Amino acid sequence: MQSTLGDLLTSRRVVITVGCGGVGKTTVAASLALAAARQGRRVLCLTIDPAKRLATSLGLREMRAEQQAIGRELWATPETPASGALTAMMLDVRHTFDELVGRYAASAAARDRILSNRIYREVAGSLAGTPEYMAMEKLYALKDDPRYDLIILDTPPTSNALDFLDAPDKMIGAMDSPAIRAFVSAFEKTGKLSFNLVSKAMEKVLSGLGAFTGIEFLTQVAEFLSDIQSLFGGFKDRASRVLETMMGRDVAFVLVTSPDPMAVGEAMFFLDRLQASGMNAEGLVVNRVRLADDVAPPSVDRVAGLLREGGIEPSQDLAAAYARAWRDASVWARRDGAEVTRARREMASIRRHIVVPAFEDDVLDIAALGRVAAILVPAQ
Ligand SMILES: Nc1ncnc2c1ncn2[C@@H]1O[C@H](COP(=O)(O)OP(=O)(O)O)[C@@H](O)[C@H]1O
Ligand SMILES: [Mg+2]
Repeated sequence: MQSTLGDLLTSRRVVITVGCGGVGKTTVAASLALAAARQGRRVLCLTIDPAKRLATSLGLREMRAEQQAIGRELWATPETPASGALTAMMLDVRHTFDELVGRYAASAAARDRILSNRIYREVAGSLAGTPEYMAMEKLYALKDDPRYDLIILDTPPTSNALDFLDAPDKMIGAMDSPAIRAFVSAFEKTGKLSFNLVSKAMEKVLSGLGAFTGIEFLTQVAEFLSDIQSLFGGFKDRASRVLETMMGRDVAFVLVTSPDPMAVGEAMFFLDRLQASGMNAEGLVVNRVRLADDVAPPSVDRVAGLLREGGIEPSQDLAAAYARAWRDASVWARRDGAEVTRARREMASIRRHIVVPAFEDDVLDIAALGRVAAILVPAQ
């Protein structure tokens, strides 16, 4: 039985779409944002997916890191209440990281030293878990913004949905290993790296790397790691508050999957993790489901007859090829149907289940998002 996600859009402040890569998280997030704005809510759709497609489908020329209002003429219907507003924003991982550094640096001087450190500038955006953590960080910062009634967060196109939950630990872990601490303490005693630590030979190798001399390079690394370690207390604190916020009743997770057996398996696994972490999985969307025709696949003769009715005089080969394609489609549809049943049964603890059919074309504009929205939030 098909349910609706409509009540989530009115009863929650934050809706987060999660799932493996390519299953339709961004599509579902944008469609929900559209549906909510059309109901009169002031919606912010926050994405971390740099895919230009989302911007295009929302009628924007490009997605920017600042909040961009989407003109009513692009999305509103005659029934849309005047209060409705749709804003899109792309997460800028580096900028968010910079803000976090600014908040937790011990002093303005330490902040400036970190922000201008070349190692920081190279690595800040690409440390493990960083984009995922920054997405949550941004959400936390925006959650109580009075300009919005609802924030929809589209999570990163990670290949492993679990990254999202592990992100803070992973990011901090990447910078806080015993080896790195030993390295930093060797630096911190004197504020300089001693030559015992870096042999001349090593320096020679490193100086081959580019503009830095070897010792300069390592000093920059050590300085960066030393400064940034002083932020960890603040980061960890903040990360636990962010995670706590994610468990609130006003935050709903919508799990998106395709009917692919592997994707369904991963979704089940992810649901366990979400629930074990105290997050509220409130919706399950099985997307891109190939639906079966009501009629059984016809015989080759029957296909030939149908083609003739359509004004095409088919060869035997053509009619046979059509009949085969028809049969194949019905086999795929049966398999998808079986996976939908399995997904619903195995994830029955999620109250709202929605099946979105596979459309012929990609979902590339507001009209297409509207078709998805009408399925996620059917008119009463
Ligand atoms: N129901 C659907 N029917 C047809 N194409 C779809 C459907 N849902 C999503 N798509 C397309 O599939 C691709 C991946 O979707 P996307 O939302 O970007 O996935 P994700 O954000 O999970 O990586 C996009 O090209 C999108 O237009
Ligand atoms: Mg995406």
